[in-house]
Amino acid sequence: MTTKIDPGCFDPFRILGPSDRKHHLAAYHQYLRDRDGTIDLEQRTLLRREMYFHELAEKPVAWSGEIDYHGFVDHLYGDGQRETDERVLWLATAAKANLIESYGVRVELDELFSDPRRVRAADPIYLYQMMEEKYHTRILAELCRTYGIDQEAAPPPWPKRLAVHLMIYLPERIRWIAVLTGEALGSVLFRVLLEQTHHFRGDPEVEERMRSLMSEIWADEVLHAAYLRAKVGRVGVWIARMFVPLVAWVMMKDLPPFEGGNMHRRVLARLRRGIEIPPGLTWMKPD
Ligand SMILES: [Fe+2]
Ligand SMILES: [Fe+2]
Repeated sequence: MTTKIDPGCFDPFRILGPSDRKHHLAAYHQYLRDRDGTIDLEQRTLLRREMYFHELAEKPVAWSGEIDYHGFVDHLYGDGQRETDERVLWLATAAKANLIESYGVRVELDELFSDPRRVRAADPIYLYQMMEEKYHTRILAELCRTYGIDQEAAPPPWPKRLAVHLMIYLPERIRWIAVLTGEALGSVLFRVLLEQTHHFRGDPEVEERMRSLMSEIWADEVLHAAYLRAKVGRVGVWIARMFVPLVAWVMMKDLPPFEGGNMHRRVLARLRRGIEIPPGLTWMKPD
């Protein structure tokens, strides 16, 4: 899958030795405690994420230019044939990428929290990640609101809902391999979208808000991929590497076009060069 890894990037499909895996998991757990603060299991919230959203609410910004609502709906839920602008394609891509995840996280959290003993026994890193995923849905809603579209994400179509339910009930070891491929692809997709926030440069405050929101998702997803590389072990990483082109096609083939081309091919090509490590993560070394 990978060719040559770019500087500052890591290969999500490199097999780590036992001591590297152990070191990564311990450092990541500490990073999560610092980045997210304490978890409130009652409210299903993270202290620092709540503070972030509080700051956003204190200083609302909104796109003042034209809004193509029908173009957005067509590219998110329809056949995506409608002519529209780059901003709408950008937003619809982000929203569409989140549809399955948002549904899956809701189902998984409801299932987990239906049994308090499972919550108490859960791996704290897993709990942090599930909470982060929950905030991604909130971030996506905020991205849409900043552009001027106020709506909650609808559930994905039934074949994708079925895939979510099947995945949740897969044996743990197989499930995490599938999730690793998804997280690796998601990291690259959100990095591409982060680079494209300049579509909103007509309103610098909006551009800055979009960049901040997208950076939050991007940094989380990169670390989810790195975590799973350390978690699933030698065979799991090898299988994930084999299946990534297929998963990319299944999950991303219906995303809106990107710069006139096909987003899933672009993401795959980029993933071959590794995943960029977000700034400030001194505990994570590039490959
Ligand atoms: Fe996510
Ligand atoms: Fe994730």
